[in-house]
Amino acid sequence: YIMSKKIIAGNWKQNGNMKSSIQLAQDIIREVKKNNIKHEVIIFPPSLYLLPIKNINKKEIINLGSQNVSAYNDGALTGEISATMLKDSKIKYCLVGHSERRHILNENDLSLCEKVSRLHENNIRVIYCIGETLKEYKTKKTKYILNKQLRSLFENLNNSKRPNRVIIAYEPVWAIGTGLVPSAKELSITFDYIHNTVRRYNKSSKPIKLLYGGSVSPDNAESLMETQYIDGLLIGGASLIAKKFIDICSTI
Ligand code: 13P
Repeated sequence: YIMSKKIIAGNWKQNGNMKSSIQLAQDIIREVKKNNIKHEVIIFPPSLYLLPIKNINKKEIINLGSQNVSAYNDGALTGEISATMLKDSKIKYCLVGHSERRHILNENDLSLCEKVSRLHENNIRVIYCIGETLKEYKTKKTKYILNKQLRSLFENLNNSKRPNRVIIAYEPVWAIGTGLVPSAKELSITFDYIHNTVRRYNKSSKPIKLLYGGSVSPDNAESLMETQYIDGLLIGGASLIAKKFIDICSTI
């Protein structure tokens, strides 16, 4: 029995420049090697920096992912990057459904489903983000919202001819970039709920890993990981500082 690897993912969002991105990736790759980190480390830089970073990661010490993908196949879609292009560039992962894309960039369940399909057709692994807003949290609609988001994801996956690996990241919108995290009790209730809901909807035999995201720091990472059913972390702000990101990798 091989213990399944924990996943530490860094979402850089729309930050940095060519020089700082390569430097950050270089520092992370070096420290992952030096500290002998056994978790699966994935970084999601801005798309323009994926290939230069791929170049300094030839030994595949870490994995690379795209923050976004087009919902459409190649064609007249100005400004978009397709799943085929990601596959061609040997990018292994892609984020789908991040709250910033749902809420600021107005993505809906339908376009998110199309994105998951395009990615799976091209054998790219998906990290699918779900989570309730502050208002939904305050009005106790968390389970209702998570159920809705998961149902829509699995309706699509269960109909897909080529379902592939999907990882689910629970990111309460009110915990993103705010320094707030759910209490241990809240997290345990929510992850029980996500685990059971996924088990109910998931028709494939593949186990599905669950990540937590939202104000993860070197100080709270260890205790967050104590929650049952949390297999890893999706990190925003702290993933932009190599030392913090590596500290998180080493403490869990
Ligand atoms: P922070 O870690 O900055 O709260 O961001 C979380 C996030 O959105 C990762 O996708």
